[in-house]
Amino acid sequence: MNLLDGKVVSEQILTSLKSEIEVLKSKGLPAPFLAAILVGNNPASETYVASKKKSCLAIGMNSEVVNLSADISEAELIEVISKFNSDTSCSGILVQLPLPKHINENNIINAILPEKDVDGFHPINLGRLMIGTDTLVPCTPAGIHEMIKFYNIETSGKHVVVVGRSNIVGKPIANILLQKKAFANAVVTVCHSAAKDLSVFTKQADILIAAIGVPQFIKADMVKDGAVVIDVGINRIEDASRPRGYRIVGDVDFENVAPKSSFITPVPGGVGLTTIALLLKNTFLAYQMQNKL
Ligand code: GUN
Repeated sequence: MNLLDGKVVSEQILTSLKSEIEVLKSKGLPAPFLAAILVGNNPASETYVASKKKSCLAIGMNSEVVNLSADISEAELIEVISKFNSDTSCSGILVQLPLPKHINENNIINAILPEKDVDGFHPINLGRLMIGTDTLVPCTPAGIHEMIKFYNIETSGKHVVVVGRSNIVGKPIANILLQKKAFANAVVTVCHSAAKDLSVFTKQADILIAAIGVPQFIKADMVKDGAVVIDVGINRIEDASRPRGYRIVGDVDFENVAPKSSFITPVPGGVGLTTIALLLKNTFLAYQMQNKL
């Protein structure tokens, strides 16, 4: 078993971004700027947004978190987005999901200019991803792809099984690995909670990607010997022995699955770290596109 270490992969990306930003600054150009919009006070979202901002500042990017009340209207939120859309110093906009129930997420995503949509959630960016043209790609799947490239994992002709069909992870990673390109060209199955027996699918996977959102759902008897296992889950489970009263686990029963796998991502320390690195990379790409660099 080998670990797919998100720290190593993300540090390589962040180091290279940091030096590119130093070059911009040495030429007297402004640094890229990420606007992160947080609606309400979901504790997990607050943590994610704070760490996104911190990571921006650590590599010399600018970032601002806009905290909005949970009862803001959809129209008011769109107004905040519009201001950043027309602010030429703003390179990227992200609205942390999930949003309160009275706000339609699709309307919000559609309000972000596609060239500032550093989450890659806008239908134009997802459409470009589907047909295989260059675009801003959702950060979690893009991070998984960087991990696959970094560890030189063979994907061509391999059977990738994705568990989970979200617009954020399941559908985009399936589209990335389906492309007729290097480090893709896989045969991809997407399965989900409506399957009578998910293990029928997961046991066939050469590369298993778990994006279900259920703690330790993937057990050892659901995984083929020698499979590559990529765990996208970030779940809090109660743990009285920890100062915070909880710990973070993935969607995979790591302890029992790891000995069977050829490569596996730990949680924490796996996909979560590459997601943030790819967000910063997308912000940098958005800046380059906007400034025609
Ligand atoms: N909520 C969970 N994952 C994400 C993400 O990648 N981007 C945003 N904006 N919200 C999320």
